[in-house]
Amino acid sequence: MPKLSAAVVGATGLVGRELLFFLEKRKFPLQDINCFSSGKLNDGVFFLGKKRPVKKFSFNEAKKNQIIFFVSSDEVSRRWAKKLSALGSWVIDDSSAFRDDPDVPLVIPEVNGEEITGKSRLIAGPNCTMTGLGVAGYWLHKKIGVKEIRLSSYQAVSGAGRDALEDFFSESKANIKDLSLKTGRVPILNIGKPSCLPRPIFANVFPQVGAFDAGGCSAEENKVSFELRKVWRAPHLKMSVMAVRVPTLRGHCLSAWLTLKAPVSLNEAKKLISRSAALKHDSLYPTPLSCAGKEEVFVSRVRFGCSPAEIVLWIAMDNLVKGAALNSVQIAEEILRRGLI
Ligand SMILES: NC(=O)c1ccc[n+]([C@@H]2O[C@H](COP(=O)([O-])OP(=O)(O)OC[C@H]3O[C@@H](n4cnc5c(N)ncnc54)[C@H](OP(=O)(O)O)[C@@H]3O)[C@@H](O)[C@H]2O)c1
Repeated sequence: MPKLSAAVVGATGLVGRELLFFLEKRKFPLQDINCFSSGKLNDGVFFLGKKRPVKKFSFNEAKKNQIIFFVSSDEVSRRWAKKLSALGSWVIDDSSAFRDDPDVPLVIPEVNGEEITGKSRLIAGPNCTMTGLGVAGYWLHKKIGVKEIRLSSYQAVSGAGRDALEDFFSESKANIKDLSLKTGRVPILNIGKPSCLPRPIFANVFPQVGAFDAGGCSAEENKVSFELRKVWRAPHLKMSVMAVRVPTLRGHCLSAWLTLKAPVSLNEAKKLISRSAALKHDSLYPTPLSCAGKEEVFVSRVRFGCSPAEIVLWIAMDNLVKGAALNSVQIAEEILRRGLI
């Protein structure tokens, strides 16, 4: 196996640090790693037991690498990713900048890894909410066919990046002291406006992830529908999504109602789900805490909905792991497995 040089753009962010962890854990064959950030902070990052310097992003430095992971922002990816892939580097982009580009494969390796052919050296990784459903429902879709999906998400604060998580920590520290029944009534908290999120998130949930469009859908809700249709190659799949932010650290959960093209037994549904996801007994349902740091997409509470053609699922997955960093590492592994480097 050749040893490669790789760069991580956004190495100091929430996903960047997980990416370094999983490159190391999975023994990705690297001879060198080059870490970039905005250059605002000079702190290094740890990789293979050593502190590595993090430099301000430099196009000339980045282009020397065979694989470049973008885990930064849509703007940074839009500006540099295509230029770097045109010069011959493989670019794996975790932002949403190219997910809707018809020339850029959007890949979950265990679902559509065959789309990595070398025709495009820029590969996008999907949205962290969609990935859980994309993996869990894939074999139901492939073998039986899925016509319609209704989905409600419970999304951790880390999904919105480091600054949002810092907001959550500050709100929690400032308000935790008011949690008591000393006045006799359940406290009515008055939390100031956060800087990153649209509403306070401590002791709260809100149905907004991204900006709303003219039809009332949030950016996240639109991304989940568009990206699932692309990854499953199901342009006519009907979807109705409600994306909700909840006060957890890491781990997105989903309630999903899948209407199939034909009725199926629960045993058959469970068999198909377990081909790509980790199926848990109903009483062992996964939660954000139980799935934190884990590689799998977990599924539980599999049952019929309104008819034997509607299957209901509870899905949980670490948004920073399979929802972002791990999926990017798996894309890189798939590039190697296919002998494209
Ligand atoms: N969080 C998730 O669950 C998740 C899931 C799927 C996909 N994603 C995507 O992954 C990307 C990273 O998300 P995140 O949550 O890790 O964000 P984050 O915690 O806010 O980190 C952002 C990273 O980008 C760096 N950066 C900012 N401006 C830059 C510039 N001009 N040049 C180079 N680096 C720059 C930051 O460096 P500094 O330290 O210098 O500020 C930091 O390392 C985003 O595109 C996001 O949409 C995130």
